[in-house]
Amino acid sequence: MNESKLLSGEQIPLEMHKAKIIQKLNLVPTQRRLDAMREAGFNTFLLNTTDIFLDLLTDSGVNAMSDRQQGAMMTVDDSYAGSQSFTRLEKVCRDLFGMEHLLPAHQGRACEHILSKVLVQTGSVVVTNYHFTTTKAHIMLCGGTVEELPIAEALNPTSSHPFKGNMDLERLEGYIQELGSEKIAFIRMEAGTNLIGGQPFSLENLAGVRKICDKFGVLLVLDASLLADNLYFIKKREEQCQNLSIREITGKICDLVHVLYFSGRKLGCARGGGICTNREDVFLALRELIPLYEGFLTYGGMSLREMEAMAVGLEETMDEEMINQGPEFIAHMVNELDRRGIPVVTPPGGLGCHLNAMEFVDHIPQNQYPAGALAAALYIVSGVRGMERGTLSEQRDEKGNEPLADLELLRLALPRRVYSLSHVKYTIDRLTWLYEHRHMIGGLKFVDEPRTLRFFLGRLEALSDWPEQLARKFSRDLESI
Ligand code: F0G
Repeated sequence: MNESKLLSGEQIPLEMHKAKIIQKLNLVPTQRRLDAMREAGFNTFLLNTTDIFLDLLTDSGVNAMSDRQQGAMMTVDDSYAGSQSFTRLEKVCRDLFGMEHLLPAHQGRACEHILSKVLVQTGSVVVTNYHFTTTKAHIMLCGGTVEELPIAEALNPTSSHPFKGNMDLERLEGYIQELGSEKIAFIRMEAGTNLIGGQPFSLENLAGVRKICDKFGVLLVLDASLLADNLYFIKKREEQCQNLSIREITGKICDLVHVLYFSGRKLGCARGGGICTNREDVFLALRELIPLYEGFLTYGGMSLREMEAMAVGLEETMDEEMINQGPEFIAHMVNELDRRGIPVVTPPGGLGCHLNAMEFVDHIPQNQYPAGALAAALYIVSGVRGMERGTLSEQRDEKGNEPLADLELLRLALPRRVYSLSHVKYTIDRLTWLYEHRHMIGGLKFVDEPRTLRFFLGRLEALSDWPEQLARKFSRDLESI
């Protein structure tokens, strides 16, 4: 695609869309941001959008829809049962994933709830390339545990390995042999592995996992929420796939798994979720629970308008120019920060840019939540909202012990087609200032700690007056330019 290159040789991500509707943003003063952070209990989830300039919390449910998606929402077939909107989505899923059955659910974690209820029993284990917060919580609620067997490079923030989301095949085989396959509820491969920095798995690795599943008669489940980014990376980084279309790669991935589920808030740029499978036995067992927890089988808790938008959004995911947008913006941001010596997860993944808080604020111990502190500090100096992905996002065990996360990341998600290059430049600028003043950032402690998914609603406070000092210094520096 030489047409998209600048003649100066500089590489910039080129948007293959234009904005037709915009939303006004607010950039409130530093003092207000300091107050807002205190009011939010140093938890970025508890901020109000009126106080936020750039919302890089997540790409979930906030990706910009295309004009075709918006248009499709107007032609909805509103009906409790037998809606043609469902039939349209089902057809798209059959075409793209090659899976006969679609069970709709209101979002990704609802799929996890249903899957766990049916497949997980007390004492059973789900083996995965890496866990996701809501997945693990649902598995644990059903009495199961999660065993992570990623390759060693997965947890190295500065590796150059192109597929850090790969499963360690040798360990997987050894683990099943030792535990006994009857104890394994299922093997879960997560596309664009969220908690380790949006890192992909390779098609070759997935094929290896499937071989082991066949050997032991174990079910293979794909979390396809971040499939779009993973597809892009397979095409770009996996040699034997470079001549395949995104659609063909999708087909090959889906042929390898027994069950696929996704958050439609990410995949398909709408709001909802779904479980797809060709396995009749699994389908029938899962189907029973959909009307009970989600809604009738042809809406599953989703708005049918969103279902129409999702059908178009999934088709658009196959457009090679469309799915480049996210990863190329992220790569630009990661490479620019890396060039400035700011610790980021490499190689650039999907979903967003991930800062390595363990190194950025290496003076803050893990039990004082370095990534949470960094998220608070960045908000105070910029109005940019990111998300902690580290120890704060972990859950205490039954004895109340706090597990320390493998990685302490500040995630700056880049919702697709929403922010511009100037927004990315602004964020890089503020992060550069913050890195130069990183020793001013201190730790946090909980003052109100919920038992489940504590990162959503927990409240914390600063361990000293570091937020005030940081805000003061930043304001003075800004005035002096
Ligand atoms: N699986 C993965 C890999 C996810 O990233 C998410 C959500 C889910 C499942 C659950 O889906 O939100 O529709 O219930 N990730 C969001 C995020 C919340 O911000 O990364 P959901």
